[in-house]
Amino acid sequence: MVPVFLTNFTIPPMKERLQKVIAAAGICSRRQAEKHIVGGDISVDGVITTELGTRVDPLTQQITFRGKMLPQPEKVCYLLNKPKGYVTTMDDPQGRPVVTDLLKGVRERVYPVGRLDLDTEGALLLTNDGELAHRILHPSNEIMRTYELEVAARPMQSKLDLLTQGIDIEGRKTWPAQVRILNSNSKQTTLEIIIHEGRKRQVRKMFEAIGHPVVTLRRIKYGQLGLGGLRVGSFRKISQKELENVFK
Ligand code: URA
Repeated sequence: MVPVFLTNFTIPPMKERLQKVIAAAGICSRRQAEKHIVGGDISVDGVITTELGTRVDPLTQQITFRGKMLPQPEKVCYLLNKPKGYVTTMDDPQGRPVVTDLLKGVRERVYPVGRLDLDTEGALLLTNDGELAHRILHPSNEIMRTYELEVAARPMQSKLDLLTQGIDIEGRKTWPAQVRILNSNSKQTTLEIIIHEGRKRQVRKMFEAIGHPVVTLRRIKYGQLGLGGLRVGSFRKISQKELENVFK
C-alpha cells in the first residue's frame, strides 16, 4: 500500500504479513498459516488470498479462516520516553537502534506517530491504530507539541518574538509558536516552545534561524499528555481515556 502523504507527514500503512496476523490471532502456528493461505482457506475482504507475501491491516481489513472472521486485535497505544541514539523508523538500513527495540514484551506491531530526530529525546507515541495516528498527525487538528530545549547564551526577546510571529524556514513561514524562557545563566538558556507543526528538524531550524542553535532537545508533551515520571528508555500503555488528553 502507498503511504499517505500529508504535506510533511508520512503515515506508514499499518500492515503486516498475512501469515503473521493469522498466527497472532491464535488459530495456528505461522507455518500452518502459510499452508492455509496456499490451500485457499483464507480470505481478505471477501477475496480468497493464496499469496504468501500479502500484507494486511488486521484492524481495518476483514480476514476470515474457512469463512469465520478472525478476532480483531486490540487497538493499542504506548508512550515511550525516547533516548538519544534511536531512530524513529521500523528498521534502519544503517543498522542503528530503532525505537521499537525498546518496547520489550509488546506483541502488537506498533508504529511511531511522527518522528523525533536521532539526537532528540522525549515523548513518542506508538500505535497500531492508523486512524489515531492520522488524527494526531494531520495538521488540521493542530495538536500542540511541547518541547524543552537548551541553547547557548540568552536569546534576546526580539529574537524570540520572531518565533512567536512565525519565521521563514526553507522558503516557508512556520505557524506562530509559543516560546518562553524557563531559566538562564551566563552560558546557556533553557526554553519551552509549543508548536503544532511537524516539519523535519523544525525546532532546531527555528532556533538556528535566530542564531541560537539547539544544544539539547526533548519533547515533553503531545497536547496535554505529558511524560509524567516516565524515565528515559521506559514506556507505558496509554488508555483510551488518557488519549483524550492529546486532543485537549
Ligand atoms: N523538532 C526538531 O528539530 N527535532 C525533533 O526531533 C522534533 C522537533
